[in-house]
Amino acid sequence: MKQDLIAILDLGGEQNAALARQIRAEGVYSEVYPGTISMKELAAKPGLKGVILNPGVIAASASSGSGYCTEGLNVPVFTAMPQDYQGDIYPEDTLRAFLFDTCRCEKNWTIENFIEDQVALMREQIGNDRVILALSGGVDSSVVAALLIKAIGKQLTCVHVNHGLLRKGEPEEVCRVFREELGADLVYVDAVDRFLDKLAGVEDPEKKRKIIGEEFIRVFDEEAAKLEGIRFLAQGTIYPDIVESGMQSGKAVKAHHNVGGLPEDMQFELVEPLKYLFKDEVRACGKALGLPDNMVYRQPFPGPGLGVRCLGAITRDRLEAVRESDAILREEFANAGLQGKVWQYFTLIPDLRSVGVRDNNRSFEWPVIIRAVNTVDAMTATIEHIDWALMDKITSRILNEVKGVNRVLYDMTPKPTGTIEWE
Ligand code: XMP
Repeated sequence: MKQDLIAILDLGGEQNAALARQIRAEGVYSEVYPGTISMKELAAKPGLKGVILNPGVIAASASSGSGYCTEGLNVPVFTAMPQDYQGDIYPEDTLRAFLFDTCRCEKNWTIENFIEDQVALMREQIGNDRVILALSGGVDSSVVAALLIKAIGKQLTCVHVNHGLLRKGEPEEVCRVFREELGADLVYVDAVDRFLDKLAGVEDPEKKRKIIGEEFIRVFDEEAAKLEGIRFLAQGTIYPDIVESGMQSGKAVKAHHNVGGLPEDMQFELVEPLKYLFKDEVRACGKALGLPDNMVYRQPFPGPGLGVRCLGAITRDRLEAVRESDAILREEFANAGLQGKVWQYFTLIPDLRSVGVRDNNRSFEWPVIIRAVNTVDAMTATIEHIDWALMDKITSRILNEVKGVNRVLYDMTPKPTGTIEWE
């Protein structure tokens, strides 16, 4: 391994992930382990230079201290007392003294070293076997694909399922970048009719999500069955999925409601090269591997896609209007320099029509609702204060270019009380 390692032991502390981030920001690789890890296992971690015990308030105040026996570990051990944190930040001087004076760490955590290590590890794990990956075009699956292509080339088969709920131009972009630029073996599945038929008449948002998720797994399963000799399934699991759900409490993996989740009864071994990276590190990795910016800095997009933005029962005409208006919004935001600055922005169309007038005739058409929000963690959000001139331009383009739409509205609601999506 190219990197030194500082292990953080989760002994009930709140700031495990934040501490790991802070250490990585110092140029030293750090990982969080559950407090149940054995001393022997810990001591065997490659590159281990030091251990930080991170007890929560309760454990730290108990007379037994952190309760973890570190006797026999031949690296320095440090306890990060909960009262020393200022918010999520541990005092910099103390941390640096531990990393660089006590543990003699080198600043050798770089994304290039990470890529080199992962490529070697994946080659070792995979050997001459074959790997399958559901490539949605999202940041995580795209970076996993790029890493695997670098490591094992055509032993990887990517499956891109077009469920008809992707944004304008997305399936084409995924096929172009991966086939033409990265030389991937990519199976493109046009499952648009299949999904839309299944969804026809379904109004309940959770039912829609469930149908999309289940159908996705079915399609992926069928494609996998057509391929011979696949031993591994690659997944874009990232570090927050594992750490932020609380290792100590034993809930190691967050319940994902993503399309592309693991088919439960599949007989594959897992390859998860991003499972120790934070989101910004995943993006840096993608960039270092040559993925285009619009893939790497893509705004979040829900697994069920436009399906939860075409409110109520999905119809093809309304879905098309969502897709077209969303493309206009994205284009105008990009032209105004807002791409990458506003956290998430999109359009949606409710299942209702209103009276209007077009070419001196009465119209009875849908409204388009624009949503643009900023947030740190998606738990709360504030709205973007869009400039009126830009708003006018977007409105006029949507009204002129999108069929079946006669009004444009802006959603002023923060989260709470609204959620970011409407369904
Ligand atoms: P809400 O609507 O809960 O959204 O405020 C918070 C963030 O999560 C995204 N989101 C989803 N992502 N599958 C996903 O992968 C889903 O079913 C889903 N629902 C919401 C949403 O776009 C926002 O970024």
